[in-house]
Formats: sequence, C-alpha cells, structure tokens
Amino acid sequence: MGDLNTTGSITRKRRATLSAAKASNLQPLSEIPARLALGDPSPENEPRNRRERTKTKSDTRSQNSDISARLSCHKTQQSLLSSASGYSNYRGILNWCVVMLVLSNARLFLENLLKYGVLVDPVQVISLFLNDPYSWPAACLVIVSNVFIVVALYTERQLSKGSFSERVGFLIHFINLAVILTFPAAVVLLLPSVTPVGGAFALGIYTILFLKLYSYKDVNLWCRELSTVKARRMVRSLSCPTPQHFHKGEHKVCYPGNLTIRDMYYFVFAPTLCYELNFPRSPEIRMSFLLRRLFEMLFFIQILVGLTQQWMIPIIQSSMKPLEDMDLSLMTERLLRLAVPNHLLWLMFFYSFFHSSMNFTAELLRFGDRQFYKDWWNSESVTYFWQNWNIPVHKWCLRHFYKPLLRRGVSKMASQSAVFFLSAFFHEYLVSVPLRMFRLWAFTGMMAQLPLAWFVGRFLRGNYGNAAVWMSLIIGQPFAVLMYVHDYYVMHYKHEEA
Ligand SMILES: CC(C)(COP(=O)(O)OP(=O)(O)OC[C@H]1O[C@@H](n2cnc3c(N)ncnc32)[C@H](O)[C@@H]1OP(=O)(O)O)[C@@H](O)C(=O)NCCC(=O)NCCS
Repeated sequence: MGDLNTTGSITRKRRATLSAAKASNLQPLSEIPARLALGDPSPENEPRNRRERTKTKSDTRSQNSDISARLSCHKTQQSLLSSASGYSNYRGILNWCVVMLVLSNARLFLENLLKYGVLVDPVQVISLFLNDPYSWPAACLVIVSNVFIVVALYTERQLSKGSFSERVGFLIHFINLAVILTFPAAVVLLLPSVTPVGGAFALGIYTILFLKLYSYKDVNLWCRELSTVKARRMVRSLSCPTPQHFHKGEHKVCYPGNLTIRDMYYFVFAPTLCYELNFPRSPEIRMSFLLRRLFEMLFFIQILVGLTQQWMIPIIQSSMKPLEDMDLSLMTERLLRLAVPNHLLWLMFFYSFFHSSMNFTAELLRFGDRQFYKDWWNSESVTYFWQNWNIPVHKWCLRHFYKPLLRRGVSKMASQSAVFFLSAFFHEYLVSVPLRMFRLWAFTGMMAQLPLAWFVGRFLRGNYGNAAVWMSLIIGQPFAVLMYVHDYYVMHYKHEEA
C-alpha cells in the first residue's frame, strides 16, 4: 500500500510535472528528469511502468512536434488582396460600399432639403397625365387599340380557313401594323390635350402591341407553313408544335385552335413580346409572391416620382443657364451632378419594371417563363449588355428580325446594324412624338452603341470592359436627358421669358 501510495504520488507528481512542462512553453527537453521520462524500473511495477513508458514516449513525441510547431510560424503564401491568392469573398467591401453610398447620399439629401424645401407633390403627377380632368385622350387611345387586336385575330382566322389568300392576309396585317404606329402618333401630335407623359404612355402601349401583333402574325404563318409541309409528307398531327416545357396532362392547343379571343388576350396581357401557341404555365398563383411584387411596384413608383421631383428637376432647372451660355465647365459639372440621381432612378425603374411588375403580371396569369433579364450588371462588353438587360425585346429582335435577316443571307454586321436601327427608331419615336420635337438624341444614342460595342470589344477586357459599360450607362443617359430638356425648354419657355 505504502509502495503503491508512493508510486501513485510519484505518478501524480509526474503528471503534474508533465502538464507543467506542457503549460510552460519555454522549458527545454533536457531539463525533464530522466526518471520521469523512462518510468520507475522496480520489478513489481513492470506492467505499469511499460504503460507509463509508452505513454511518456508518445507524450514526448507530441511535445517535440508541438515545440517544433512553435519554432516556425511562417509559410509561403499570398496576401489576400493580390490576385494570385485566389481570394474572392468581398462581401464586407460590398457592404462598406453600400454604407458609404447611403452616408454620402444622406448628406446630399439633407443639402437638397435645406436648399429647396419639400418639392414632392403627388397632385402634380396627375397633371402630368391630364391637362383637363374631363378629357382623357391617352386612356381613350389605349381603349381604341382593341380594334387593332380584333383586326389581327380576324385576319388570322380568315387565313386559317383559306378565305383570305396569304397575299391579302399579309396586306391587311401590314396596313394594321402601319396604322398601329401612325394613328397614335398623329393623335398625340395633333391633339393639344395630350400631355407629354400621357402621350409617351399611350405610344408605349401601342409599340408593345405592334411588336406583339407582328409576332402573332409570324407564328401563325409558321404554323400554316408547317401544316403544308406535313400535309405534303402525309404526316399526322398537323402544325401542333410540341413545346419541351409542356407538362403531362395539360391541355395543349393546336393550330388553328389557338385563334380565339381568349388566347389572343392572354398573349396581349402576358409579359412577353413573342407569341407561342402553348406558353409554359406555373402550377398556381402564389399569393405571398404576388403581394410582395405589388407592394414593391407601389413603393418604387412613389420613390421614383418623389426623387424626380425633389432631386432631378432642380438640377435640370439649374442646368439650363450653363447650357444656354455654352459654359463647358459648368455644363460638365451639371451633367455629373445629374448622373447620380438619373442613374439611381434608372436602377429603380429597372427593378420595379423588369422584376416587380413583370413578375406580378406573370404570377397573375400563371405565365411560367420569368426570364425577363439576365446578369447584365456583369457585362464586360456592350454586346453582352444588349443581350441581357431587356430579354423580352432581345428575344423579339432575335426571333422576328435578326434571324430572319440572317436566313435571307444578310451579313451578321448588316443584320446587327438593322436591329439597332429599328431599336433607335422606336427609342426616338417614344421620346420625340410625345415631346412634339424631333432632335434625334435618342436615335443617335442607340446607333452609337454599334461603334461603342466595337471599341469596348476591341480594346477593353474584364473589369475594364465592365467599367466602360457602366460609364456609358451612367453618363450617356443624363446627357440625352439634358439635351432633350434643354431643347424642350428653349422651344416652349424661352420666348415667354423674352
Ligand atoms: C442585334 C442582336 C439581336 C444581336 O444579338 P446576339 O445575341 O449578339 O447575336 P448573335 O450573332 O450572337 O446570334 C444570336 C443567335 O443567332 C444565331 N445565328 C448566328 N448566325 C446565324 C446565321 N447565319 N443563321 C442563323 N442563325 C444564326 C446564333 O446561333 C444565336 O442563336 P441562339 O440565340 O439560339 O443561341 C442584339 O444585340 C440585340 O438584341 N440588340 C438590340 C437590343 C435592343 O435594342 N434592346 C432594346 C432594349 S430597350
């Protein structure tokens, strides 16, 4: 017992010493007593001693490696901010950017409030749409647009029955589409009660209708061509295109079963410009998703109107004098000053239109294809931006204009130029007609995308290309805005001042 006790106390002592050695980082290995390292050699304690010895050996080994680990504390490695490190988590930096943006804009906001007071006036918004509360020309124009929808449907029905020849059908469609563009433009230009904002709204609806009915005409023609080809080959299931996204058990429409009022109006309201006989459908309407999108729409409309009145308009007003005097340095200063609110408003418009309202409509109609935009913010080339920022328009351009031109043997360069020309025409149409002023700033801006795309693609890559795309968006738009507002001001108010 006494021995055991003694050994026990020695072991306890040894353990205490070892832990003390572990705890003390500086105690050298040579100073550990030999007896503790090897164990007590007395015969009666042999098994225990062996165990102790093994334990002590492993302790020593771990101690050795522990100490050598303590001796070296460097290895070859890259700094996080150098590209060779492969580090890419900049979440904190992004947050910092947002905090800086909020802080700097809070200062601007305060400065603006102190200088101008509260300029937000919701009643003024109504006056932008209506000159006279008893006359609603823009709304009447929108209601009249139903006539063109019915004409297109009627023509397609007659074509499907063979009552109209393809030539007659083409002629009626051509006239219908031409009137869709010219009739509202004539009304806006000739009727003084149409305000610029009301006019732009009505023309926007007519332009969308033009693109939709053009697509409707093309797809039904393709269906008839498919029927003819299949009939010649004696194939069954005439012109019933089978979409890959079609779910089993869902009712599938075949040509000419699609030529109904219901199908036509579904397409007219669906958030797409490209017609299809069987659109992909979502299984149900998700109420919470729908309400969230509705809330976002209402929220962003308020913010857009408020910021335009409080932030954009005072800067634009203060830019008129430098523009008149052709004071280049002041003009540049005003342009840069306008660039920030203009860009913020454009980003908000993008979210509220392409995400909130398009998803809202799609959810309501159970329209399945929600790809309204892609990651245009990562664009490293101008081409990539135009392919990804407005998918409905890009899809229409590819399907109904670009690819048909390529199929007819037109070169890629000429086809791309033709698409941008068409786009430039519509941009100018949507601005110049409501303003009743033809200045070609929007047209030039769109056409300038071609040389810009060439320049960025040729000389800039990666982040430099991305920065160039952002710069063109941030600076290009306010430039066009200033030019139009200046010309409008000179045209309408300059002589009143004099
Ligand atoms: C002009 C425009 C249509 C070119 O688009 P793009 O994607 O750069 O064109 P690409 O040459 O890469 O070819 C696109 C398609 O044509 C096909 N194509 C190319 N050459 C072809 C040929 N000779 N024959 C048939 N198809 C061809 C490609 O295979 C590709 O098909 P996919 O879409 O099924 O993959 C595009 O830049 C555009 O939409 N611009 C205008 C956008 C606009 O104005 N938006 C307004 C927003 S407010």
